[in-house]
Amino acid sequence: MSDLDKSIDGAVKLLGTARSVVVSTGAGISKESGIPTFRDAPNALWANYDPQTLASPEGFRQDPALVWRWYEDRRRMIGAAKPNPGHFAIAKLQEFFDDFVVITQNIDDLHRKAGSQNIVEVHGNVFRYKCFDMEHPIEELPDDDNVPPKCSCGSLIRPDVVWFGEMLPASALERSFASLERCDTMLVVGTSGIVYPAAGFPAVAKRAGANVIEVNPEATPITMEADVFLKGPAGEVLPVLVERFMETRSE
Ligand code: APR
Repeated sequence: MSDLDKSIDGAVKLLGTARSVVVSTGAGISKESGIPTFRDAPNALWANYDPQTLASPEGFRQDPALVWRWYEDRRRMIGAAKPNPGHFAIAKLQEFFDDFVVITQNIDDLHRKAGSQNIVEVHGNVFRYKCFDMEHPIEELPDDDNVPPKCSCGSLIRPDVVWFGEMLPASALERSFASLERCDTMLVVGTSGIVYPAAGFPAVAKRAGANVIEVNPEATPITMEADVFLKGPAGEVLPVLVERFMETRSE
């Protein structure tokens, strides 16, 4: 039995005793869906622009049309991506728990597409919009030629994602902390563990008494806190984990 196999068995045992589960995901889970991280330039057209500037309120103020077009490009790319076996395994796992929350830093909507139901998007969603000045939610983009389009209040419309220098949505944070504090097992998948506050979520769960299982091909700052570290890509490790967990349920 390989080390990974042993660790997977350890993780299955932890899940077996859990009543309440939180899965926290980052860019790594969508890697096998082909979604380039936001630091990769989508194509040569954008190579001369700094994503950290584009994805900021200052960048939008300076050149709203440029930022809008950059996000249109990202949205096209992300919209063409499909959930991978890692997303599907997480959606499958929810069937075995009454209390199961997915907290994601991703804006790509792939957990929902895979069938996850209770999702907290701490960094927003690239397929949603709000207005820049008032944060009015925009259900449907107006059919006009403005770039970016305008809200009925007159403000420019922007994607409903969290930009550099912005606060995370309070409601998403509240839901995250509440679920972290009541969970027995937390699964942390594909996050580098350096961008706060999400990087602090495992510590919150641990302090509240939960076990932490981490899935990542590389060790991260979270690995030290994890009870079980499953070293490998999410699209390969998670289906095996969930399959074995289901076997123990049917025994
Ligand atoms: N399966 C699981 N994890 C993977 C895989 C994979 N196939 N491939 C890579 N990883 C891991 C990497 O080892 C790394 O630890 O995914 C992590 C990705 O790290 P980041 O790109 O920093 O992603 P994330 O932690 O989600 O970043 C947080 O930063 O870019 C901003 O707002 C953006 O939400 C994002 C935030």
